[in-house]
Amino acid sequence: MDPLAALADAYPAWWVDLLGEHNHAGGAEATHWLLDRARLAPGAAMLDAGAFVGAAARAAAARGARAVAVDIVPDFLAAGRALDGGRDVAWVTADARRLPFADGAFASVWCLESSIFPRELSRVARAAGATLCLGCEAPADGRGGLEAFLDEWAEYGWRLASHRPLSLEALATWRRCEAELVARRPHFEARYGTRGYLRQLDHLARLVALYERGSAGHALMVMER
Ligand SMILES: C[S@@+](CC[C@H](N)C(=O)[O-])C[C@H]1O[C@@H](n2cnc3c(N)ncnc32)[C@H](O)[C@@H]1O
Repeated sequence: MDPLAALADAYPAWWVDLLGEHNHAGGAEATHWLLDRARLAPGAAMLDAGAFVGAAARAAAARGARAVAVDIVPDFLAAGRALDGGRDVAWVTADARRLPFADGAFASVWCLESSIFPRELSRVARAAGATLCLGCEAPADGRGGLEAFLDEWAEYGWRLASHRPLSLEALATWRRCEAELVARRPHFEARYGTRGYLRQLDHLARLVALYERGSAGHALMVMER
Protein backbone atom coordinates (compact mmCIF):
# COMPACT_ATOMS: atom_id res chain seq x y z
CA MET A 1 0.00 0.00 0.00
CA ASP A 2 1.11 3.56 -0.71
CA PRO A 3 2.71 4.69 2.59
CA LEU A 4 0.97 8.09 2.44
CA ALA A 5 -2.42 6.41 1.99
CA ALA A 6 -1.59 4.21 4.98
CA LEU A 7 -0.66 7.34 6.95
CA ALA A 8 -4.00 8.95 6.09
CA ASP A 9 -5.88 5.81 7.14
CA ALA A 10 -4.12 5.61 10.46
CA TYR A 11 -4.03 9.33 11.24
CA PRO A 12 -6.69 9.35 14.01
CA ALA A 13 -4.89 6.42 15.64
CA TRP A 14 -1.64 8.40 15.51
CA TRP A 15 -2.96 11.10 17.82
CA VAL A 16 -4.90 8.77 20.10
CA ASP A 17 -1.70 6.71 20.38
CA LEU A 18 0.34 9.73 21.31
CA LEU A 19 -1.82 11.87 23.55
CA GLY A 20 -4.92 9.89 24.32
CA GLU A 21 -8.51 10.71 23.41
CA HIS A 22 -8.56 13.98 25.34
CA ASN A 23 -6.16 15.65 22.96
CA HIS A 24 -5.44 18.77 25.02
CA ALA A 25 -3.13 19.86 27.83
CA GLY A 26 -4.43 18.55 31.13
CA GLY A 27 -6.21 15.61 29.45
CA ALA A 28 -9.43 14.14 30.84
CA GLU A 29 -9.03 15.97 34.14
CA ALA A 30 -9.05 19.33 32.31
CA THR A 31 -12.20 18.29 30.42
CA HIS A 32 -13.98 17.58 33.70
CA TRP A 33 -12.73 20.83 35.25
CA LEU A 34 -14.40 22.67 32.36
CA LEU A 35 -17.57 20.53 32.52
CA ASP A 36 -17.94 21.39 36.22
CA ARG A 37 -18.06 25.08 35.24
CA ALA A 38 -19.90 25.00 31.90
CA ARG A 39 -23.36 25.29 33.50
CA LEU A 40 -24.78 22.62 31.20
CA ALA A 41 -28.42 21.94 32.12
CA PRO A 42 -29.81 18.51 31.14
CA GLY A 43 -30.60 18.54 27.42
CA ALA A 44 -28.64 21.75 26.81
CA ALA A 45 -26.95 22.04 23.42
CA MET A 46 -23.15 21.83 23.58
CA LEU A 47 -20.79 22.37 20.64
CA ASP A 48 -17.32 20.80 20.62
CA ALA A 49 -15.55 22.69 17.79
CA GLY A 50 -12.37 21.05 16.49
CA ALA A 51 -13.47 17.96 18.36
CA PHE A 52 -10.96 15.38 17.09
CA VAL A 53 -12.55 12.13 18.43
CA GLY A 54 -15.00 14.21 20.49
CA ALA A 55 -13.77 13.33 23.98
CA ALA A 56 -15.29 16.53 25.40
CA ALA A 57 -18.54 16.06 23.46
CA ARG A 58 -18.87 12.46 24.69
CA ALA A 59 -18.14 13.52 28.28
CA ALA A 60 -20.78 16.30 28.03
CA ALA A 61 -23.29 13.84 26.57
CA ALA A 62 -22.58 11.47 29.47
CA ARG A 63 -23.65 14.34 31.77
CA GLY A 64 -26.92 14.76 29.85
CA ALA A 65 -26.04 17.45 27.28
CA ARG A 66 -27.12 17.31 23.65
CA ALA A 67 -23.60 17.36 22.25
CA VAL A 68 -22.47 18.09 18.71
CA ALA A 69 -18.88 17.36 17.66
CA VAL A 70 -17.48 19.25 14.67
CA ASP A 71 -14.16 18.61 12.97
CA ILE A 72 -12.71 19.36 9.58
CA VAL A 73 -11.33 15.79 9.32
CA PRO A 74 -14.17 13.25 8.89
CA ASP A 75 -11.88 10.33 9.83
CA PHE A 76 -11.50 11.70 13.36
CA LEU A 77 -15.27 11.93 13.72
CA ALA A 78 -15.74 8.38 12.44
CA ALA A 79 -13.18 7.16 14.99
CA GLY A 80 -14.99 9.09 17.75
CA ARG A 81 -18.38 7.67 16.82
CA ALA A 82 -16.96 4.16 17.38
CA LEU A 83 -15.58 5.02 20.84
CA ASP A 84 -17.47 4.84 24.17
CA GLY A 85 -20.48 7.16 24.16
CA GLY A 86 -20.07 7.91 20.46
CA ARG A 87 -23.69 7.07 19.67
CA ASP A 88 -24.90 9.79 22.05
CA VAL A 89 -23.21 12.59 20.06
CA ALA A 90 -24.08 14.19 16.70
CA TRP A 91 -21.02 14.24 14.41
CA VAL A 92 -20.70 17.01 11.82
CA THR A 93 -17.85 17.51 9.37
CA ALA A 94 -17.31 21.26 8.95
CA ASP A 95 -14.73 24.02 9.06
CA ALA A 96 -15.07 25.98 12.30
CA ARG A 97 -14.59 29.15 10.20
CA ARG A 98 -18.13 28.71 8.92
CA LEU A 99 -20.30 26.51 11.12
CA PRO A 100 -23.50 25.03 9.68
CA PHE A 101 -25.63 26.11 12.65
CA ALA A 102 -28.13 28.88 13.32
CA ASP A 103 -27.26 31.95 15.39
CA GLY A 104 -27.57 31.18 19.11
CA ALA A 105 -27.95 27.43 18.58
CA PHE A 106 -25.76 26.39 21.57
CA ALA A 107 -25.88 26.96 25.32
CA SER A 108 -22.20 26.04 25.63
CA VAL A 109 -19.51 26.35 22.98
CA TRP A 110 -16.16 24.62 23.40
CA CYS A 111 -12.91 24.92 21.54
CA LEU A 112 -9.97 22.97 22.99
CA GLU A 113 -6.59 23.13 21.26
CA SER A 114 -8.07 23.91 17.87
CA SER A 115 -8.23 26.91 15.55
CA ILE A 116 -10.24 29.58 17.34
CA PHE A 117 -12.58 31.85 15.36
CA PRO A 118 -14.09 34.22 17.94
CA ARG A 119 -16.77 35.76 15.71
CA GLU A 120 -18.09 32.40 14.47
CA LEU A 121 -17.96 30.65 17.86
CA SER A 122 -19.79 33.65 19.37
CA ARG A 123 -22.41 33.68 16.60
CA VAL A 124 -23.55 30.10 17.32
CA ALA A 125 -23.66 30.64 21.11
CA ARG A 126 -26.86 31.85 22.79
CA ALA A 127 -26.93 35.62 23.08
CA ALA A 128 -27.50 35.44 26.85
CA GLY A 129 -26.92 32.73 29.45
CA ALA A 130 -24.23 30.93 27.42
CA THR A 131 -20.81 29.63 28.35
CA LEU A 132 -17.66 29.41 26.25
CA CYS A 133 -14.95 26.91 27.24
CA LEU A 134 -11.47 27.32 25.81
CA GLY A 135 -8.25 25.38 26.23
CA CYS A 136 -5.62 27.25 24.29
CA GLU A 137 -2.31 28.97 23.87
CA ALA A 138 -2.74 32.47 25.23
CA PRO A 139 -0.27 35.21 24.33
CA ALA A 140 1.95 35.96 27.30
CA ASP A 141 4.05 38.92 26.21
CA GLY A 142 3.40 39.78 22.54
CA ARG A 143 0.17 41.05 20.90
CA GLY A 144 -0.95 42.88 24.06
CA GLY A 145 -0.76 39.75 26.20
CA LEU A 146 -3.68 38.09 27.92
CA GLU A 147 -5.55 41.41 28.31
CA ALA A 148 -5.78 41.91 24.55
CA PHE A 149 -6.92 38.30 24.17
CA LEU A 150 -9.73 38.86 26.68
CA ASP A 151 -10.62 42.24 25.12
CA GLU A 152 -11.23 40.50 21.80
CA TRP A 153 -13.75 38.16 23.42
CA ALA A 154 -15.32 41.07 25.32
CA GLU A 155 -16.23 42.58 21.93
CA TYR A 156 -18.57 39.62 21.51
CA GLY A 157 -20.03 40.03 24.99
CA TRP A 158 -17.95 37.44 26.88
CA ARG A 159 -16.47 37.98 30.31
CA LEU A 160 -14.07 35.63 32.03
CA ALA A 161 -15.74 33.52 34.74
CA SER A 162 -13.00 30.96 35.54
CA HIS A 163 -9.39 30.67 34.56
CA ARG A 164 -6.78 28.00 35.19
CA PRO A 165 -3.20 28.51 34.02
CA LEU A 166 -1.78 25.32 32.57
CA SER A 167 1.51 26.58 31.13
CA LEU A 168 3.85 24.36 33.10
CA GLU A 169 1.67 21.33 32.54
CA ALA A 170 1.44 22.10 28.81
CA LEU A 171 5.19 22.56 28.49
CA ALA A 172 5.75 19.25 30.29
CA THR A 173 3.20 17.62 27.98
CA TRP A 174 4.80 18.94 24.77
CA ARG A 175 8.25 17.89 26.05
CA ARG A 176 7.01 14.42 27.00
CA CYS A 177 5.46 14.02 23.56
CA GLU A 178 8.68 15.11 21.86
CA ALA A 179 10.64 12.59 23.89
CA GLU A 180 8.04 9.92 23.17
CA LEU A 181 8.18 10.59 19.44
CA VAL A 182 11.95 10.28 19.44
CA ALA A 183 11.94 7.15 21.60
CA ARG A 184 9.21 5.46 19.54
CA ARG A 185 10.57 6.57 16.17
CA PRO A 186 10.80 3.03 14.70
CA HIS A 187 7.19 2.27 15.73
CA PHE A 188 5.79 5.57 14.40
CA GLU A 189 7.81 5.49 11.20
CA ALA A 190 6.70 1.95 10.45
CA ARG A 191 3.05 2.85 11.07
CA TYR A 192 2.82 6.36 9.68
CA GLY A 193 5.86 7.02 7.49
CA THR A 194 8.60 9.59 7.86
CA ARG A 195 6.69 12.62 6.61
CA GLY A 196 3.95 12.50 9.26
CA TYR A 197 6.46 11.72 11.94
CA LEU A 198 8.68 14.67 11.12
CA ARG A 199 5.79 17.12 10.80
CA GLN A 200 4.50 16.28 14.28
CA LEU A 201 7.95 16.46 15.77
CA ASP A 202 8.60 19.89 14.19
CA HIS A 203 5.28 21.14 15.53
CA LEU A 204 6.08 20.03 19.07
CA ALA A 205 9.58 21.51 18.87
CA ARG A 206 8.06 24.88 17.83
CA LEU A 207 5.61 24.79 20.73
CA VAL A 208 8.35 24.06 23.24
CA ALA A 209 10.41 26.98 21.85
CA LEU A 210 7.41 29.35 22.18
CA TYR A 211 6.92 28.40 25.80
CA GLU A 212 10.62 28.62 26.65
CA ARG A 213 10.77 32.13 25.15
CA GLY A 214 7.76 33.00 27.29
CA SER A 215 5.86 34.34 24.29
CA ALA A 216 2.94 31.96 24.84
CA GLY A 217 1.26 30.49 27.87
CA HIS A 218 -1.49 27.98 28.23
CA ALA A 219 -4.83 28.18 29.98
CA LEU A 220 -8.27 26.76 30.49
CA MET A 221 -10.89 29.51 30.42
CA VAL A 222 -14.60 29.59 31.00
CA MET A 223 -16.39 32.72 29.78
CA GLU A 224 -19.99 33.71 30.20
CA ARG A 225 -22.40 36.16 28.62
C1 LIG B 1 -5.21 19.16 18.88
S1 LIG B 1 -6.73 18.54 18.25
C2 LIG B 1 -7.78 18.92 19.63
C3 LIG B 1 -8.94 17.98 19.69
C4 LIG B 1 -10.02 18.14 20.77
N1 LIG B 1 -10.56 19.47 20.83
C5 LIG B 1 -9.53 17.70 22.12
O1 LIG B 1 -9.25 18.58 22.94
O2 LIG B 1 -9.41 16.50 22.37
C6 LIG B 1 -7.19 19.78 17.05
C7 LIG B 1 -8.39 19.36 16.21
O3 LIG B 1 -8.92 20.52 15.56
C8 LIG B 1 -9.28 20.17 14.24
N2 LIG B 1 -9.31 21.42 13.45
C9 LIG B 1 -8.26 22.21 13.16
N3 LIG B 1 -8.67 23.28 12.44
C10 LIG B 1 -10.03 23.15 12.28
C11 LIG B 1 -11.03 23.94 11.64
N4 LIG B 1 -10.73 25.06 11.01
N5 LIG B 1 -12.30 23.51 11.70
C12 LIG B 1 -12.63 22.35 12.33
N6 LIG B 1 -11.72 21.57 12.95
C13 LIG B 1 -10.44 21.96 12.94
C14 LIG B 1 -8.24 19.16 13.83
O4 LIG B 1 -8.67 18.38 12.74
C15 LIG B 1 -8.04 18.37 15.12
O5 LIG B 1 -8.92 17.28 15.20
